[in-house]
Amino acid sequence: MQDVNLTELLSKMTLDEKIAQLTQLATPFFKGSKDQGEITGPMKEMGITQKVIENAGSVLGASGAQQTKSIQEEHLKNNRLGIPLLFMSDIVHGYETIFPIPLAMGCSWDLSLAEKSAEIAAKEAAVSGVHVTFAPMVDLVRDPRWGRVMETTGEDPYLNGEFSKAQVKGFQGSNLTKDFNRVAACVKHFAAYGAPEGGRDYNTVNMSEREMYEQYLPAYKAAIDAGVEMVMSAFNTVDGIPATGSKYLMRKILRKEMEFEGILISDWGAVKELIPHGVAEDEAEAAFKALEAGIDIEMMTTCYVDHLKEQIEMRNLTESLVDEAVLRILKLKKKLGLFENPYRGADERLENEVVMSAEHRAASRELATKSLVLLKNEKNVLPLNHHQKISLIGPFADNGDILGAWSWKGSREDAVTLKEGISQGMDHSLLTIAKGSNIQSISEEDAAEAVQAAKNSDVVILALGEDSEMSGEAGSRTNIKLPQAQLDLFAKIKETGKPIVVVLFNGRPLDLTDIHDQADAILEAWYPGTEGGAAITDVLFGKENPSGKLTMSFPYSAGQIPVYYNHFNTGRPKDAPDAQERYASQYLDSPNKPLYPFGFGLSYTNFLYKNIQQSAENMDPEEGISFTIEVTNNGKMAGEEVVQFYIQDVTGEVVRPLKELKDFRKIFLNPGETKEVLFNLREEQLRYYHSDLSLKSDKGKFNVFIGSSSEDVLSLSFQLL
Ligand code: NOJ
Repeated sequence: MQDVNLTELLSKMTLDEKIAQLTQLATPFFKGSKDQGEITGPMKEMGITQKVIENAGSVLGASGAQQTKSIQEEHLKNNRLGIPLLFMSDIVHGYETIFPIPLAMGCSWDLSLAEKSAEIAAKEAAVSGVHVTFAPMVDLVRDPRWGRVMETTGEDPYLNGEFSKAQVKGFQGSNLTKDFNRVAACVKHFAAYGAPEGGRDYNTVNMSEREMYEQYLPAYKAAIDAGVEMVMSAFNTVDGIPATGSKYLMRKILRKEMEFEGILISDWGAVKELIPHGVAEDEAEAAFKALEAGIDIEMMTTCYVDHLKEQIEMRNLTESLVDEAVLRILKLKKKLGLFENPYRGADERLENEVVMSAEHRAASRELATKSLVLLKNEKNVLPLNHHQKISLIGPFADNGDILGAWSWKGSREDAVTLKEGISQGMDHSLLTIAKGSNIQSISEEDAAEAVQAAKNSDVVILALGEDSEMSGEAGSRTNIKLPQAQLDLFAKIKETGKPIVVVLFNGRPLDLTDIHDQADAILEAWYPGTEGGAAITDVLFGKENPSGKLTMSFPYSAGQIPVYYNHFNTGRPKDAPDAQERYASQYLDSPNKPLYPFGFGLSYTNFLYKNIQQSAENMDPEEGISFTIEVTNNGKMAGEEVVQFYIQDVTGEVVRPLKELKDFRKIFLNPGETKEVLFNLREEQLRYYHSDLSLKSDKGKFNVFIGSSSEDVLSLSFQLL
């Protein structure tokens, strides 16, 4: 580390300079930025003075080596103490080389590829002058109406925690001071942002404290344990207090219990939003409450710069709260090497070489291939072969909108569309392409052309979905079916009697009940990223065997939401041997279970599970216990399988979920090959939060389930002594 003495530096700063250091402004405010002067909308109204800009601590959304360097250069000319700026951006699933959206990545169950994708994103961002990424987003989700489910890895606390760690490692590496190819990570959104009522973005979150500890906090904690440098507060309330003003969340849980020592940043405008939330009368009170709760950086509002000074005087506070926050920011600047090298990794020449390199595109293709989930494959309509006449139909047949939300640096022109992917490997005379409909509308002409194309083919690939604006931030929907125009298109194509392979592009679990029975095959492609069309083609034609497994349940209908695998039993379970016909916990018009459960995904081959064994009848807490199972590939194609390991604590002080994922292995098997898979289980893995929030295990009976999805398992049991 460099020898800049931070305490000394802090002592030279005036209170105004310190408070400005806590302010984060978007790029257009800064001299040297490409779009300086283009300050529009609410930003214009912010009334930021030149003095604040000169002393601001960080910049939001700047990128590109040339731009970040020129902003930094201008800044250092004017900043009295020569304190460099921190550049922060949302590099969520890739910088310019776009990887599959995080929900898709989750379905790969491939932690090393997840780490690799974060490493590549960091490398491209770092040469472009970015220092911090606002990722990973690790909010646990159970409601597909919420558009931001696409940003996270799903509904399981353990799996989310594993992906959280993998991404932090990939972004940050092991030495941010020396390794300029990495960026600092910022885990978000603390806390429980993924549980808004009704799935409406920014809405109220209400849950028991116990449930929050058990389900929602572990993935943030995993990032913190992996050394994440920053945390972002959430927009929502938790138990009536907006997270951004919650001493309980920030001071007690985050700082004290989780021992987080890095920077805490508010989400965009969240400090000022304490006013409409109804816990602060005005900006001054909002500033005071946020600082008191522990928010170090205020993103994109000016409550701190406009009011903190007067608040400190008025409330007779010491400056120490401000000092602590400033010091954390200075520490990260020092750790990133910015005092010595304020441009850090920014390098125009390297930028050209590194960004969107062939190697990065190949990694994106690999992850995309592994993220695809085969939901249905009747009579082995897939894989296709190169002698078939194929009609590729639908609004996503030739559409670059396959990057998904949070891919602002990615270019749709660089994305391999499905048409491009498929045409590469095919005799063009066998392929017909027709749009059929737009995302939300259908015309007679387009439909007729598509029907004609279908009639002249042996098989139809129907590429359907949501455009990327329909999910992501503020992308909530109450109806999670495919848009009606596309359902109409589906119905018309169905009338031709040709086999239909549906390829779906979407950012959330959809209600697929309408098409599930009628399609011959369904491949969930999510938003697969820059190499999407190529990866899908590899799977459609059997060059690759699909191996993705869902990490979020697909409901039969929106009315079933929330539906998730790790739920409780009731006192009147529907499937109990003595269940009454009517007075059981059930819907009159729908199954309880989802259409496709957590952990589900088909392969072109068949994996047979047998011979589940345990090392002992009882588990001695000191020693643990282990389980083995044999998995055989008894199909014709080599492939990967995610072997999933669940437990159930049969009787607890608190009701326990029917199943909880505790471990998994991803194995590769050639046709005819058998592998024995071993799982070791330790007593710590059986602990849970009791009613007094103590984390401990209960003696007694546990069931163990091993299998290929949360529904398709073999089981046995043991006693914890
Ligand atoms: C708002 C989003 O909620 C957050 O995830 C993002 O990092 C910030 N905007 C900054 O763009």
